[in-house]
Amino acid sequence: MPVTIGALRESAPQEIRVSLSPEIADKLAKEGARVLLERGAGERASFPDALYKNVTWADSAAQVLAESDILLTVQPLSVAQVQQLKSGAVVVGFMQAHSRLAEVRALQARGVTAFAMELVPRISRAQSMDALSSQAAIAGYKAVLIAASHVQKFFPMLTTAAGTIRPAQVLVIGAGVAGLQAIATARRLGAVVEAYDVRSATREQVKSLGAKFVDTGVSAEGSGGYARELTAEEKAKQQEVLDARIAAADAVVTTASVPGRPAPKIISRGAVERMRAGSVVVDIAAEQGGNCELTRAGELVQHNGVKIVGAVNLASDLAYNASEMYARNLFNFLKPALAKGELAIDWNDEVFAQSCLTSGGQIKHEPTKKALEA
Ligand code: NAI
Repeated sequence: MPVTIGALRESAPQEIRVSLSPEIADKLAKEGARVLLERGAGERASFPDALYKNVTWADSAAQVLAESDILLTVQPLSVAQVQQLKSGAVVVGFMQAHSRLAEVRALQARGVTAFAMELVPRISRAQSMDALSSQAAIAGYKAVLIAASHVQKFFPMLTTAAGTIRPAQVLVIGAGVAGLQAIATARRLGAVVEAYDVRSATREQVKSLGAKFVDTGVSAEGSGGYARELTAEEKAKQQEVLDARIAAADAVVTTASVPGRPAPKIISRGAVERMRAGSVVVDIAAEQGGNCELTRAGELVQHNGVKIVGAVNLASDLAYNASEMYARNLFNFLKPALAKGELAIDWNDEVFAQSCLTSGGQIKHEPTKKALEA
């Protein structure tokens, strides 16, 4: 019997991505799977039903939940949805386990094998499955467009009959996947870009994109490549340099985060008060508490003429490309486990072993298990 691989019309607020693009639905069908889609699943991501070939249509989410052997999702399922799954089904998607403990319990109780895309190890072989990276790159790009649309200035330098316009100054804080894409985007728009990250390895990456690395004069480099704890004096010096760069910027894009922890607070109220009126902060870390003290997730806060955008789920704003990339990540993840349309998971493969959250009534992810016990 071929496996049934299902996808829903996502029901979480502000989520318009879909886990299966027409391209990947077709590929899965060619692998011998039965692909079951809820009607209208991809509509809001600009994939109307007519674009999907070789799929079976379900008139309700309940049917997809009840019939799928493997369910592909973007957002975590609700407890009620988990309870409608086939016992022993496999679910693959973002799980946000640390903040969705009730849902994890439900997956465990239902005997579901749940794979969390955010837990896929970041090894070279798994790069094509790295959904955190594909979606973060989109967020970094979009954050700069949001910043550009709020600032009452051009990003590029312009020489016009009405005189010369100076380029905008952009500061990117956190030079991971989202930050590097933000730098590249701001540079393409012609802004003068600076960037800062606590990891010194980012210095060269920042420079290679044509941006200046903010040197705080403090090195956190310890022994064995690990960062060391800074003294209070060093921290104050670091913050002083950074605050001066924040004050000089027309737009600040913040992307700093620490896995499984609240986002570090990097821009204080005082730093915002030193910014020029008309400047903007776009805070991608808003959902993890924000990098700016004044950030409110999902809101636009105005403080002394400075706008602070608490950006939420930016990847969904580019739902077409985001879904396309995410569906490819899912396909690359699943492909090694699909043989002639049947599912065979190799538990010796670190990608499956490390990304597994629950299976056979057990919690497989240690930090989640500890959080549930606490
Ligand atoms: P992230 O989203 O967890 O954090 C974003 C950035 O914020 C990081 O660069 C981090 O160093 C920085 N940050 C944290 N605290 C900060 C602070 N107080 N001030 C300034 N910056 C701060 O990270 P992301 O973007 O998901 O990945 C970052 C790392 O993962 C990089 O080393 C990247 O090269 C690596 N990576 C490896 C992959 C692979 O080998 N397959 C794939 C993707 C990323």
